[in-house]
Amino acid sequence: MAQQRILTGITPSGTPHLGNYAGAIRPAVEASSRAGVESFYFLSDYHALIKTSDPARVQRSTLEIAATWLAAGLDPGRVWFYRQSDIPEIPELTWLLTCVSGKGLLNRAHAYKAAVDKNSAEGEEPDAGVTMGLFMYPVLMAADILMFNAHKVPVGRDQIQHLEMARDIASSFNYRYGEHFVLPEAAIDDAVATLPGLDGRKMSKSYDNTIPLFASEAELKKLIYGIVTDSKVPGEPKETEGSALFQIYQAFASAEETTAMRARFAQGIAWGEAKEALFDKLETVLAPIRARYEALIADPEKIERILQEGAARLREKYATPFTRRLREAVGLRRLDQGLAAKTETQVKAQARPQFKQYRENDGLFYFKLTDGANRLLLQSRGFTSPRDAGQAVAAIKNGAAFEEWAALADGVNNADITRALEALRAE
Ligand code: TRP
Repeated sequence: MAQQRILTGITPSGTPHLGNYAGAIRPAVEASSRAGVESFYFLSDYHALIKTSDPARVQRSTLEIAATWLAAGLDPGRVWFYRQSDIPEIPELTWLLTCVSGKGLLNRAHAYKAAVDKNSAEGEEPDAGVTMGLFMYPVLMAADILMFNAHKVPVGRDQIQHLEMARDIASSFNYRYGEHFVLPEAAIDDAVATLPGLDGRKMSKSYDNTIPLFASEAELKKLIYGIVTDSKVPGEPKETEGSALFQIYQAFASAEETTAMRARFAQGIAWGEAKEALFDKLETVLAPIRARYEALIADPEKIERILQEGAARLREKYATPFTRRLREAVGLRRLDQGLAAKTETQVKAQARPQFKQYRENDGLFYFKLTDGANRLLLQSRGFTSPRDAGQAVAAIKNGAAFEEWAALADGVNNADITRALEALRAE
């Protein structure tokens, strides 16, 4: 089997914290060294423009996030590591995909809907303050993924809908122009740690309770001493359950160290001592990463070179030839090479969908709907008379929901049916 292609984007906004490291960076770096996968990690700086309009911040954050991933052990010799805006084929593909993306599909995106709901609640125009960047975000993300025909996309739960949209957009394109895109899948890892923050809630920028990954030694110490604990005195047994201190320790310690720490909690370790142990552990793990990070940050030319080389090789291997193929498929072609004959898939894709009625050995009357490529879309139940079957067909053609009479064929979705019915109605 061909290698699995795994791709994920990292939006350069903000400074990475311990939660990002344990929950996303470390598992991704580990996964990237597995055999049989081809990994793509990129800085989604076009996406960052939707979140901030501070140019210095975009640049600074891109540098910091790139340095973080490299310092954490991502090996640009083994994985594709690049910056989205170094691949001009991505915005080009975004336009090709825009032309097959239903506006209705994008109207349903959670982030857009949330903005509209908020406006309505505040008595504003529904689209007040909504940019087309925000609205089109899912299409840009689909282009990131489809450009490299990624199979799996490790993302957080909040991104599942974007993956569904990418699949939907890919099928629309494939339906019109032939099979060019793999349908990508979200890979959600429930096992990855979510770390508690200083106040015990999930570590998150929005709660302002984070420990920056590259805090200086002094800063790290101060933050750790500020982690909330209960008021149990030294000698009193302590709960590990619900202890932010313990959970952060566990995320960075070995299994044996964690067992030993659990025993010390039961024996009534003083909170001061536990904090010192956590500080020592974090300092041991993070100091070498921090040193690499600082060396990298001090050498932006090196990072720039790594990113540019990654993009150049990636364009040559995938983006440029694939874009050539896609341009050809949609008809953005040279004029001096004659009018190319339609490919077989294109001929089929342009043929008409149709309803067929027939009788089975069981004596009942059936109908089915196929698309232009003769792919089965709908399969009816049996009717006792051909007239009943015909009326059901007419009702569906006239816009009635099909569920009463027919079921979706395997691998078909409602969008496929809608397209076929629209084509029929347009006849
Ligand atoms: N939207 C993602 C986020 O905010 C980042 C991202 C951009 C991405 N393009 C992607 C993730 C492609 C996976 C695949 O987290």
